[in-house]
Order: sequence, then structure tokens, then C-alpha cells
Amino acid sequence: MTPIQLFDPASSTYTYLLFDETTRDALIIDPVDVQLERDLSVLRQYGLKLQWTVETHAHADHITSAGLLAEHAGAKTAAPIGCSICTAAVQLEDGDTLAFGAQQVSALHTPGHTAGSMCYLWKMPRGSHVFTGDTLLINGCGRTDFQSGSSEAMYRSLTQVLFALPDDTLVWPAHDYNGRSHSTIGAEKASNARVAGKTLAQFVETMAALQLPKPKRIDEAVPANQHSGLRQDAGAPGLPPAHDAPRPAEGYAGDVAPQLACRWWQEGSAVLVDVRTDAEREWVGFVPGAVPLAWKQWPGMALNPGFDAGLKEAVPPGKKVVLMCRSGVRSIAAARRATELGIEAYNILEGFEGDPDDQAHRGRKGGWRLRGLPWRQS
Ligand SMILES: [Fe+2]
Repeated sequence: MTPIQLFDPASSTYTYLLFDETTRDALIIDPVDVQLERDLSVLRQYGLKLQWTVETHAHADHITSAGLLAEHAGAKTAAPIGCSICTAAVQLEDGDTLAFGAQQVSALHTPGHTAGSMCYLWKMPRGSHVFTGDTLLINGCGRTDFQSGSSEAMYRSLTQVLFALPDDTLVWPAHDYNGRSHSTIGAEKASNARVAGKTLAQFVETMAALQLPKPKRIDEAVPANQHSGLRQDAGAPGLPPAHDAPRPAEGYAGDVAPQLACRWWQEGSAVLVDVRTDAEREWVGFVPGAVPLAWKQWPGMALNPGFDAGLKEAVPPGKKVVLMCRSGVRSIAAARRATELGIEAYNILEGFEGDPDDQAHRGRKGGWRLRGLPWRQS
């Protein structure tokens, strides 16, 4: 079995899609936000069920689509425990495994590029695969001069963790800037220009002499990636006024402000569907009269198999649907699905609770509840 290697040209990032050939369960490593549509179409094309999104570290050069893939494809998010990716559902420690079908990858803690960086080993009887992130690159390694990097730690991760793997292990890096796709542990051990045959002192000296410019997107990308790529700054300022028209969107009819959605609903031209889980409605509050129809179910947050049937039943022909979730992300996935089912569907911006504020508290930045629209707590 071989991973599917995908490439983002803007950041030269490789994303890897691994799957079990029998069950079609899949795991994706280092997905990129701007490639979301491509990745969703590859999943469809291969008939895969995405179980996991996994990060090798909190990237500084692109923003992950992990959070969006979790919403759109029903995957769970996993990330190294030392990377402060607080939104990841699973915080991986060294040696932890993630299963997809009968397959699994195991996490290897490889600090150096960042303190929390991990590589992932997909074991095969012969010729295993290792996904090396920005730790081991082809004929190189990741930089160690920012984001809690350490040349000493990198040297140990390369020589004692990765080079301890069998020589025929295939190496799949997070980047290559020269069009190379993969290498092997044997080849890198023999001839990697940064580390092969070097002592720790020589390696540290080589790394210190690199004098690389600051990564262009670090200030924007790292904070976003520490929230699985769900950017709370996106679209928050300049909220549309109450009677604004819908904004056109890709894959569904449009985005609407909570006030406009409420007006349509109260006039009777739209059905209001709340796609949050039962637990969220119970604990946080609900809109009396809205149709409760979870997009994903608790526990486990798997996609609700009854969603399509429930939606068709809730929305009579000729009516549109306005979809609400917590903060306006899940409702986009639901609006796309509704559109596929032939329903004119709108996503309610900001959701029930709005975006989190600087202290990660919700309910203070927009949202159905904050805007004084009808709701109640049970
Ligand atoms: Fe990186």
C-alpha cells in the first residue's frame, strides 16, 4: 500500500492521504486549507471515509484544513501534544497509534524543528513509510531557529529516531522545493547534506550558519494552526447589518446574517434547522420551533446517517432552509449537503454562539443568542 501524495504549489507542501484498501477508512497528514475542495474530491473519487486529520507540527508556512475537514468529512483531529494545537480532539504522545480500518500509524516524537514535532510511521512487512514533516527533508532537514526549534534536539531526532528505522523505509517529507517526491532512510543516512557523517558539533554549526529569512506567514499561520485552521479573525469584523441581502457562497445558496435568517423563518419563507448535537442544544440553549437535526452525533461526532432523510422531511418543496450550528462552520457543510439534495440552502453566519473572543469565551462576539433573537435554555 502506498500513500497518495498531494501537493500545494504555493507553500510547496506535501499532504498525504493513507487508506485501508478493504474498509476505505483514511487518514490525512498535513492538509492545506486552500486545497480543501481538491482533498474532498480525492476522497470522493477513491470512495474513502476520512477518519483522521493529523498534523506533524503547527506549521508556519500554510494554514491547515484539519478543522474544516473535521466538519466537512466527519474526521477527527489529532496533533502532537507539544504543539499547543488546543482544538485537536486527540493529543498524541510518543508511541501513540491512530487506526484507520485495519491499518495504523504510530507517532514518533522528533523534536528539533519545533519542540513538539512528530513523524508518523506506517508499518509494512517490508518497506514501511515514514512521514517526516519538517524534521527530515530530502537531502536536508527543517530549520531549527524559531518556534522552539533546537539543533541539538534535531540531531538526536534524525540520527537516533529516524535513522534507526530500517534502510528500506520510504521517507515522505512535508516539503520539497525541487520536485522530488520521496526518499529512503538508507539514502538519507548515507548522503543527506546536512547530517550524514556529521558530528553533533558540526551539525549545530551548519544549522547556525544558514541565516534563513523569517517564514513569510508565521505570524498568521501558527496561531491559526493552533486552532486547527479555524480562523476566528476571518469574517468577524464588519458583520452584515440586520436586513442585509444574502452573500453568495460556493456550493450552496449563500450566507445570511442571523437577523435575516430569523426574519425569513418568522415570515415562513424558510425552515430553520439547528444542526448542533442534542448535547449542545441542551447545555447551551436552543431556538424554540427550530428543527433539531444534528449534522454530527455525539459521542464520537460521526456524521449523522439520518441527516438526509430528516432534512427532506423537515423542508417542504418550495421552501428554503437556513442552517445554524455553533459558530457557522458545520452549517456550511450541512448547507452544501442540502444543496446536493436539491434544497435552496443558506448558512447562518456566526451560528448560535458566535466566534470565541481572545479568551476563547463564546457568546460575546456575534451569534444568534447575542443578537437578541429568540432562544431558551431547557
Ligand atoms: Fe514547519
